[in-house]
Amino acid sequence: MTEQEQILKLREELHQHNYNYYMLNMPTISDKDFDMMMHQLQDLEKLHPEMADPNSPTQRVGSDLNNEFATVKHKRPMLSLANTYNKQEVSEFYERVKDGLQDAPFQICCELKFDGLSISLHYEKGSLVRAVTRGDGTQGDDVTQNVRTIRTIPLQLPQGSGYPDEFEIRGEVLMPWTSFERLNKQRAENEEPLFANPRNAASGTLKSKNSSVVAERGLDAYLYYLLGEGIPGDGHYQNMEAAKKWGFQVSKAMKLANSLQDIYDYIEYWDTERKNLPVATDGIVLKVNSLAQQRSLGMTAKSPRWAIAYKFQAEQAETTLRQVVFQVGRTGAITPVANMDPIQLSGTQVRRATLHNADVMAQLDLHIGDRILVEKGGEIIPKVVGKACPTEPGSPRINFITRCPACGSKLIRYEGEAAFYCPNETGCPPLIVGKIEHFVSRKAMNIFSLGPEMVESYYKQGLIHDAADLYTLKERQLLNAEGTNKVSVNNILTGIEESKNVPFERVLFAIGIRFVGEIAAKSLARYFGSMENLSTATLEELTQVNGIGDVIARSVIKFFADERNQNFVNRLKEYGLQMQISQEQQEAKSDRLKDMSIVISGVFAHHSRDEYKTMIEKHSGKNVGSISGKTSFILAGENMGPSKLEKAQKLGVKIMDEDEFLQLVGEE
Ligand code: IVH
Repeated sequence: MTEQEQILKLREELHQHNYNYYMLNMPTISDKDFDMMMHQLQDLEKLHPEMADPNSPTQRVGSDLNNEFATVKHKRPMLSLANTYNKQEVSEFYERVKDGLQDAPFQICCELKFDGLSISLHYEKGSLVRAVTRGDGTQGDDVTQNVRTIRTIPLQLPQGSGYPDEFEIRGEVLMPWTSFERLNKQRAENEEPLFANPRNAASGTLKSKNSSVVAERGLDAYLYYLLGEGIPGDGHYQNMEAAKKWGFQVSKAMKLANSLQDIYDYIEYWDTERKNLPVATDGIVLKVNSLAQQRSLGMTAKSPRWAIAYKFQAEQAETTLRQVVFQVGRTGAITPVANMDPIQLSGTQVRRATLHNADVMAQLDLHIGDRILVEKGGEIIPKVVGKACPTEPGSPRINFITRCPACGSKLIRYEGEAAFYCPNETGCPPLIVGKIEHFVSRKAMNIFSLGPEMVESYYKQGLIHDAADLYTLKERQLLNAEGTNKVSVNNILTGIEESKNVPFERVLFAIGIRFVGEIAAKSLARYFGSMENLSTATLEELTQVNGIGDVIARSVIKFFADERNQNFVNRLKEYGLQMQISQEQQEAKSDRLKDMSIVISGVFAHHSRDEYKTMIEKHSGKNVGSISGKTSFILAGENMGPSKLEKAQKLGVKIMDEDEFLQLVGEE
């Protein structure tokens, strides 16, 4: 077998194993063997750039290349569905269909309404060629690169399974609850804003400019609508069964109903059972099953007459508001929280509900003793949605506070943000404790022997006033402190001592500059090399760094402009923390690409795209996503896109191949 044939064979086998693993949950080989085959394919593909294929299983991991989404017009408009909220409206829909079909027999296909974002997938000769978001229904964003990383979306359909030459299939991209929780946990650790629900998270992820981010976040997809010439049969249900055979993930919950009662039974069953599903659903979709009958019923301007959505009620309960407390978060953000008489909601007892922010609170116009409505929808935290009855005369109104409940500082509001903040970053207890907790956390200094409770307790006992104080702690002090014994004291002191070896990039993350998460800290550390260089960097220099925008850059400048922060950093330096990148990293660095903006395009033989990106940064260059007059040169591999090539020629930007590039930077 030639290497080319081997590539094709490996691809086919890996597509099948991917399907067995992600769709059937029945792998037939070990993870290790799977990885081995994947590596073999990767190696062969490197040797044969002429065989590059965007639908190769190796492409599931995505790339760091900046995606710009092209706008694409939908072949057929993507309509939405009319909503209903009760049995009465469902029965009215049923009667309308019956009348429309002049009493001919019909079946209704009942299915779940998935709560994500809709996607249109196009296949030609069994190969995924394009994936487009709904957009405004007429045109959407081409997100093919990102969609390729979703494991349950087949890139290549198994030959001979009977799919038409060309077709479109639509469905919903979702973030499963487990991925959603993992993502939000990570974001909380990195001080990034949380996603309110899996739909927002899925949508944010699919629009990410970096497909390797999409690959990591574990999106999923269910398909529910097949379109095009030559699709298998007249029944929607039967067509979805066929799609299942071609390798698409189709919901197992689909069911054909022969009467209104069947529909009610389906709704009733799934209204509770949906809580056990791995993904969010917000209703039921009812579709006339026969495509011929669908055509005869037709469409209104906005939605088909042959389908309707029934929306589940978000669970609501009524209770009495007792008090509003104001919580101070680690960033200083103030969140109003309602304390209420306990009630049962979606199976748990609830006594607190968020009021989000000052605007939401003002709109609700709350008074002590109000009867309020609390809801637990897609959001994890229950929220107050309104009043159940008018306020009793004479009840005191609850206003938003103007001063921090913890330290009394006057609250401020940043432009464009809904939240009020306590600005007292170095004097407000919850802010300080939060900062120290962040400092010792796993991805920062990793002083795992010191948990959040200990941090808070040591702070309250006056042993530490900021994170730098950790390095002054003495054994005797800790032995006298509340809640520690000899063994834990030893562990804590060892953990603190060992943290002095934690690399600079994590020290930078640990000191808690607002908006500087783990990834930004890494980029900044590599680019500037030391705390010293970073602390004197200008706005212009900062925004040169890959992934550093205006907001982060300004925040860095503001941090180092504050004398208290300078002192803090100086003390950390004195205590022996790493304030620059390692000798090895330093030696590897050069200025060969200083001030150069470089675009990477195509497929490479010697190194991966990521490796080239790292090389560019190592030699002080900047990797940018799109070609402009400012581009210094294009590092081009095989199969560089024709539009890029044209643009480069038009702007007179130099194109460099990989050998030339490697010579320029002096790498192998
Ligand atoms: S069918 C013309 N089926 O709900 C009918 N849609 O408001 C096309 N959705 O934009 C849609 N689950 O994003 C259909 N089983 C399902 C669905 C579903 C969720 C979404 C879809 C659509 C919206 C309709």
